[in-house]
Amino acid sequence: MKTKCAVIGYGGMGGWHTEHLLKSDVAELAGIYDIKKERCDLAESRGIRAYASREELLADPEIEVVTVAIPNDVHEEVVVACLDAGKNVICEKPVTLSMESLERMIEAAKRNGKIFSVHQNRRWDVDYLAMKHLSETGEIGEIINIESRIHGSRGIPSDWRGIKQYGGGMLYDWGVHLIDQALMVLGFDGIKSVRCTFEHITNDEVDDGFKLWINYEDGKEAFIEVGTYNFIAMPRFYMRAKHGSAFISDWRENCRVAKCKAWHESDVVPVQTAAGLTKTMAPRDSITLDEYQLERPHSDVHDYYRNFIRTAHGEDTQFVTHDQMRVVLKVIMKAFESVECGEKVAF
Ligand SMILES: NC(=O)c1ccc[n+]([C@@H]2O[C@H](COP(=O)([O-])OP(=O)(O)OC[C@H]3O[C@@H](n4cnc5c(N)ncnc54)[C@H](O)[C@@H]3O)[C@@H](O)[C@H]2O)c1
Repeated sequence: MKTKCAVIGYGGMGGWHTEHLLKSDVAELAGIYDIKKERCDLAESRGIRAYASREELLADPEIEVVTVAIPNDVHEEVVVACLDAGKNVICEKPVTLSMESLERMIEAAKRNGKIFSVHQNRRWDVDYLAMKHLSETGEIGEIINIESRIHGSRGIPSDWRGIKQYGGGMLYDWGVHLIDQALMVLGFDGIKSVRCTFEHITNDEVDDGFKLWINYEDGKEAFIEVGTYNFIAMPRFYMRAKHGSAFISDWRENCRVAKCKAWHESDVVPVQTAAGLTKTMAPRDSITLDEYQLERPHSDVHDYYRNFIRTAHGEDTQFVTHDQMRVVLKVIMKAFESVECGEKVAF
């Protein structure tokens, strides 16, 4: 039997959930609630039941799971109300805007014995999965560093994402995904420090781009950059490891790997530059490299709902854990602290 789910907030992402939870084949849509009447009317015009109030939705005993897809500043209040009504809750990212707020949400889940998780749907992006594959298999050796970038050229969206009080800004919006992905590759433990700088090219109030460095006790580094004023985009991913490098130019492209199979080259052909010849920076002799592309990993984003519902029924463990949510949010908090003081901050 399919599990009855409802969605609170029928905007861009709420609309996505109403369609995609059905594609998991384990969920059924009971209906939605949105504070805006026009969004409720739109849902009804599409054949989706719109509850008259949040209270009416939460009083429906058939609903087991509620997905909360509303602006970031109001996640806590709605999530806690849903948990206190005895529902399991999926919260959109970023889960909330402070560590204290996250602890109150986790506490509400515990006191009600309900499952609560955040929708980290970008754990199913195939570009990230290629990086994760390299870290798990050790195919090119121990990782030294990873660079993860998303570059757009349209500025920050002109809705609540551009306004601070709603939890706007690119660090919360895209940063939360890229931080989660980087920690899934390099680990949630052993972070030593965080440094961050913000850009304000099209918006003075919130960051419309940022650069973030996450450094580990053992020397590994994740560099994450989001830009919204980049008319030529830099590569999506770049990884260096002890025995090779990996590169993804764009999220539609396969991962290219160059594995070093012979460190020493007998003859290096120097490269002529304007300032003279260089051997140090000359391309490697290709016979010293094993160059190939990774097959695109299998991925089905609907596994998020499958896992959540199995967990709610006691048949699995939750894929995005509370501890992982805590570490990702702590990185964001430390990034804000670093921007404020203009320095690297201890984790
Ligand atoms: N995981 C992803 O890939 C992804 C993508 C986009 C957005 N999001 C997240 O989803 C959330 C919503 O973003 P969006 O793009 O859908 O925003 P949106 O502005 O398109 O929609 C938000 C909707 O929530 C409604 N709303 C606001 N407060 C409410 C309340 N208290 N109760 C009920 N409804 C309320 C608004 O009327 C609006 O219709 C945000 O947290 C955002 O970060 C996640």
